[in-house]
Amino acid sequence: MILYYICTYASLIASVFFILALRGLSSAKTSINGNRFGVAGMILAILGAQISMYFPGLDVNLTPTIIKIVIVAVLGGIVGYIVAKKVNMTALPQLLAGFHSLVGLAAVFISLASFFCIYGIPSVNHDNMRALEMVLGAAIGAITFTGSVVAFGKLQGIISGKPWRFKGQRQINIILGACLMALIIAFVIKQTPDLLIKVVILSLIIGYMLIMPIGGADMPVVISMLNSYSGWAAAGIGFSASNRLLVIVGALVGTSGAILSHIMCKGMNRSLLKVIFGSFASKGEVAETHEEQINRNVKLCSPEDAGFILKNASSVIIVPGYGMAVAQAQHVIKELADRLKSADISVKYAIHPVAGRMPGHMNVLLAEANIPYEDVFELDDINHEFGMTDVAVVIGANDITNPAAKNDPNSPIYGMPVLDVEKAKTVLFIKRSLGSGYAGIENQLFYRENTMMVLGDAKKVCDAVLKALSD
Ligand code: TAP
Repeated sequence: MILYYICTYASLIASVFFILALRGLSSAKTSINGNRFGVAGMILAILGAQISMYFPGLDVNLTPTIIKIVIVAVLGGIVGYIVAKKVNMTALPQLLAGFHSLVGLAAVFISLASFFCIYGIPSVNHDNMRALEMVLGAAIGAITFTGSVVAFGKLQGIISGKPWRFKGQRQINIILGACLMALIIAFVIKQTPDLLIKVVILSLIIGYMLIMPIGGADMPVVISMLNSYSGWAAAGIGFSASNRLLVIVGALVGTSGAILSHIMCKGMNRSLLKVIFGSFASKGEVAETHEEQINRNVKLCSPEDAGFILKNASSVIIVPGYGMAVAQAQHVIKELADRLKSADISVKYAIHPVAGRMPGHMNVLLAEANIPYEDVFELDDINHEFGMTDVAVVIGANDITNPAAKNDPNSPIYGMPVLDVEKAKTVLFIKRSLGSGYAGIENQLFYRENTMMVLGDAKKVCDAVLKALSD
């Protein structure tokens, strides 16, 4: 009886901790505590699950099984710790995709195990509701698995980031979706092993078909959708395994992932339904060759010139992007901003919802450098200010400033809101070359009258600008 109460309360407290974790992670200020709640919740959940195996009424000796589980959990924990310690901030999206694929795979295995082991003889008819939960867990898990593997491959550069398109693709996807529905219904009615296996195989194919056509700038939404799918897969297996905590946690991950996807779709002006059904895809524009680029009129400027321009400004907006993360330039940017502020120059930061390679990427880096939250503004809150600003300093950002999103209907990023940096009197672009960003398209801003390119690694250039300001 005591064990029963311990387990019930452990899972209840763990669920509350997970909710507090999500609440904490909603702002950079509270995110560390949010993370702690998440870790505490997970420890409680694991302990509760272990203790629940000792419930009275079970006459099987479960100790060997529990020892095996503990060994595997410790080994998994060590691998997770090493991976988390080693991975670069810039590689987090692919790490997430990798983890999502494991959740998907686990959902498939648990559903299969529930069917073949718990059900005993599989062909015997059982509760239809239970069969539906199980088959949904398996289907969503399998879609999440291959979808996440493809997303991992694309983000890691193992698979080409270009959209994979062919004639009749959408129709084939619709037919595959309809076949999956039919198989799921057939399984719920007949509950035969061959139908379950067919559902899993077809879902694996659908996961691949859904993510392969997506390329360019749309990957962030895909990552957050896969996060949501992995949550729903976990909730599905929670039902199969009669584990309430897994249902709660899966539903939390599923809904928070769906909300995040919705926010990101709004930020990128995309339709959530089109993302779910994989029918949006970039047209794969090819960036210009280097020769074509240098033949155009580009104003190059040295860090010293940039320092001079900044010294004479009265308002500056800094736009950080992926290149800032690569160069780890956030600390020197803070020093630069402090120097400008001490000369009574207004300095603000403009954050695009998909700047960098993961949601909140720039916020995390700026917070790490102790940049005050009140200086950091989201796109909607600052875009109107560029027209009244002397200098926009774009540091390692590209796609999020590209006006093609506003004026080129053929561009893969068309419709995505961008930061209107070109409205500032002067735009300083700090990046290493005239190369393109993640979406692989050229940025016309590099050739505008009011743009100055300061070519070089973001950290090195900012160091040099800082030195120029001090001289
Ligand atoms: P990007 O458009 O990818 O541009 C980053 C720029 O940084 C590149 O053009 C690169 O130019 C420059 N760069 C790289 N290393 C640098 C360094 N060491 N020093 C200076 N510059 C460096 O980045 P963005 O403007 O932040 O836009 C984000 C893009 O990523 C969007 O297309 C978005 O859809 C996509 N994406 C976002 C996410 C999330 S959730 N945020 C996830 C996946 C994909 P050079 O090579 O010339 O230096």
